[in-house]
Amino acid sequence: MESSKSRETTATRSSPGSPSKGERPRSPAAEIPGPSVWETLRRLSHAPFLRLPGFLSDVADRYGPVVAFHLPWRRFVLVNDADAVKDVLVTQQHAFVKSFGARALRNLLGDGLLTSEEPKHRQMRRIVQPAFHRERIARYAEVMRARAQEWTASQRAGRTIDMAAEMSALTLRIAGETLFGIDTAPQAEQVRDALDDAMETYPAALGPFGPLMRRLPFVSSTRRFESARKRLDAILYDCIDERRRDVRERDDVLSLLLLAEDAETGARMSDEEVRDEAMTLLLAGHETTANALVWTWFLLARNPQIESRFHAAVDAGDSDYVRRVLRESMRLYPPAWILGREAVQDVTLAGGYRVGKGTTVFVCPLVLHRAHRYFEHPLTFDPDRWLGSDIPPFAYVPFGGGARRCIGEEFAWTEGVLVLSEIGRRFRFSTAFDGEPPIDALVTLRPHDTIAMEVHDRS
Ligand code: HEM
Repeated sequence: MESSKSRETTATRSSPGSPSKGERPRSPAAEIPGPSVWETLRRLSHAPFLRLPGFLSDVADRYGPVVAFHLPWRRFVLVNDADAVKDVLVTQQHAFVKSFGARALRNLLGDGLLTSEEPKHRQMRRIVQPAFHRERIARYAEVMRARAQEWTASQRAGRTIDMAAEMSALTLRIAGETLFGIDTAPQAEQVRDALDDAMETYPAALGPFGPLMRRLPFVSSTRRFESARKRLDAILYDCIDERRRDVRERDDVLSLLLLAEDAETGARMSDEEVRDEAMTLLLAGHETTANALVWTWFLLARNPQIESRFHAAVDAGDSDYVRRVLRESMRLYPPAWILGREAVQDVTLAGGYRVGKGTTVFVCPLVLHRAHRYFEHPLTFDPDRWLGSDIPPFAYVPFGGGARRCIGEEFAWTEGVLVLSEIGRRFRFSTAFDGEPPIDALVTLRPHDTIAMEVHDRS
């Protein structure tokens, strides 16, 4: 345990005093333990976002399920306990807004679903939700299957491919066609390069001087980001323009956005509002799923026995096993690896942990999903752990929870299972990579370098 000197006082475990309205019974007084500000500064002052996964995992091991730490400009609490996670995401979600990480994402996504706050968020969610209804997803499934089959037909055994680039192009194409009715294939490389530039410059926006740096055009990360944003804007505004000239009701989210009317005023959305939602869905809708697929192929290649069962399952049309494989892959490598919130009032979490107003709270699926408390042999890739499991629901949150839960969850499950099944019926992949690949924990959890995989014909 840490010395009392290293304990921070901004976030405390509350004392059994007089509980205020709505609070749970409190545990005995104890401060939330955590590393000293000096240790935190030393470990996070350089490239903080890239070092964060290792740091969070380490402090969770050392200090327990709820940990407090500070930088001179910000206070943080890591919540790594299923009941407290439920509080942050669901039971006490009213006490939180999205954190500075989401605010930095606004540079790219504007005020879309992922980054907006109430009441705008609720209004937009109502407009976008019908695009994710079950019957729509069933129709999208046809596109998903067809594009996965095309991808399979385009591959040859013996080739070595960059799996991350391949899965990203495939999911981008599926998102473009299902959500916007556009074929992104001709622009796939352009969109991918621009999104890569935007994501890779994201950490630069997160430090204390991030907002200032974003306004300095001579800073290289600012230049790179602005150029990426302009390229993406040009593609999306073209698409919006084209649709405005031909506003018929179609089967995609762009039509929903363009035809949506404000319930009170009857006003339609501006081009900028439509652009923000479209950019959000394009990014959230393809990057996460692509990463889930890459990690799944990687884990299958490294676990031949499970790979054999996976092949038997796809041959037999057993989508339950494929789904368990994907579930287990997102446990070890959750694409949305960290969820940040900021407390807008003092709040007491399960276990009596009191978090002060203004504190940034992290729920980190990457750390939570590997906790020994909830998962036996947490580093083992074992899809069968999900058979009749008694894992608490909030120990596994790849899609978040509460009002901000992923709107595309069913879309993602459908796409993931279909793509894995279609491709897995014909091919298997191998990798020369030994050990755990270094990760890039940016907005999503990506492999640091390309994951080169060799294509093998199963027959
Ligand atoms: C494996 C794939 C995916 C994963 C792991 C994932 C994960 C998540 C998570 C964790 C959140 C909550 C973020 C938070 O609480 O701060 C979220 C939100 C969101 N996701 Fe996904 N997602 C995936 C696929 C998709 C797809 C396919 C779409 C759209 C086509 C999508 C669109 C969104 C949107 C718009 C939000 C914001 C929802 C809101 O705040 O109302 N996601 N996603």
